[in-house]
Amino acid sequence: MTYKYSDFDLSFSHFENRRIQAGSEYKHQDILSLEAFELANKEITSWDKYEPTPLHIFSDMAKDVGVSSIAYKDENLRFSLKSFKALGGAYAVANLLIKKLKDIDINASSRDLIDGTYKHETSKITVCCATDGNHGRSVAWGALQFGCNCEIYIHRNVSIGREEAIAKYGAQVNRIKGNYDDSVRLAAEVADNNDYTVVSDTSYEGYTDIPKDVMQGYTVMVDEALKQMDEMPTHVFLQGGVGGFPAAVVSFLVESLEHPPIFVLVEPANADCLFQSAVNGKPTAVHGELDTIMAGLACGEVSVLAWSILESYVPHFMSITDESIPKVMQLLADRDTPIVAGESAVTGLAGFLIASNDSELKEKLSINENSRVLFFGTEGDTDETMYEELVGRSSSEVLRGI
Ligand SMILES: Cc1ncc(COP(=O)(O)O)c(C=O)c1O
Repeated sequence: MTYKYSDFDLSFSHFENRRIQAGSEYKHQDILSLEAFELANKEITSWDKYEPTPLHIFSDMAKDVGVSSIAYKDENLRFSLKSFKALGGAYAVANLLIKKLKDIDINASSRDLIDGTYKHETSKITVCCATDGNHGRSVAWGALQFGCNCEIYIHRNVSIGREEAIAKYGAQVNRIKGNYDDSVRLAAEVADNNDYTVVSDTSYEGYTDIPKDVMQGYTVMVDEALKQMDEMPTHVFLQGGVGGFPAAVVSFLVESLEHPPIFVLVEPANADCLFQSAVNGKPTAVHGELDTIMAGLACGEVSVLAWSILESYVPHFMSITDESIPKVMQLLADRDTPIVAGESAVTGLAGFLIASNDSELKEKLSINENSRVLFFGTEGDTDETMYEELVGRSSSEVLRGI
């Protein structure tokens, strides 16, 4: 079955954050900066098999929707991990090991770690984290690549496919009974009791250094996108979980562009902690099952560092239900050059298509024939079974045009 763009006349919630000051200068260099990006870029681009992921231009979709251009950065091909998260957790693991080696007077680079030069020292170190899939895969991959041990905590709703994908990198994976936020708390407790280091993608009071590295790693993707674009975007639609990914994109674009784009943050209606934080003007948790097929976005608590960036520069927040997600995944799979996009990859694009079908919202977001819209397709089929169920074909069939 194929879908038309006009099929996206679907319900949504929208909130306009009037606390931001349009045109205000970037002031969050203590969290994320172009200077720290340079360090992350130097390390990450030295890793085996590093290459920029493709940026696709959807001229047909732009014409149909009535905007000037649509660009989609495809993270399905990020290393072998199928998601942008490969840049964050793994970079934080490398940085942690580099710092620990410095404490014993060894100056190492991530390249030295990959080459196993200090394996004797790093093999005594254990990293751990909670995850709903992609972040844990990145940390486990990083631990394997850079030579330390790894323990991962997953919650009750993480699929078996995602669990196996993490275990494949040699990490010990522990499933708990609670939800994502419970797994975050447990990982912190285990680390405390065992002298492990938590490598989390979410920051909380008293725990900020490592999540900064995670987010800074993501900015490598943003830099690639800008270099691949002929003209800078006027709009960027970003999906949000704890907020680290959108904060990384926002920080990089606000600091590097004279005229930053309009940002629209899109979340699942059942896990809309960033939306609710915008409404309340402070970090606000949402509780319950956080039930959504957008597994990577099923987060109930914001990352405090990410939030301080988002509240300052993001004017629009949307929440959407799951209904549009399989439709967008299929739209992308059916393109002449097929694209494999997972459930959490397409949320920004789904939000845009929904907004484009609502004249009032379209006007509020200033979407018109001059708009150049950028999306980050943050994952491929990171859960292969789920992908096949939702699209009706496996990713390899999609890519072979079957
Ligand atoms: C594929 C994908 N996209 C987007 C996000 C959102 O990132 P964040 O939780 O940093 O907001 C995630 C988080 O896990 C993800 O897995």
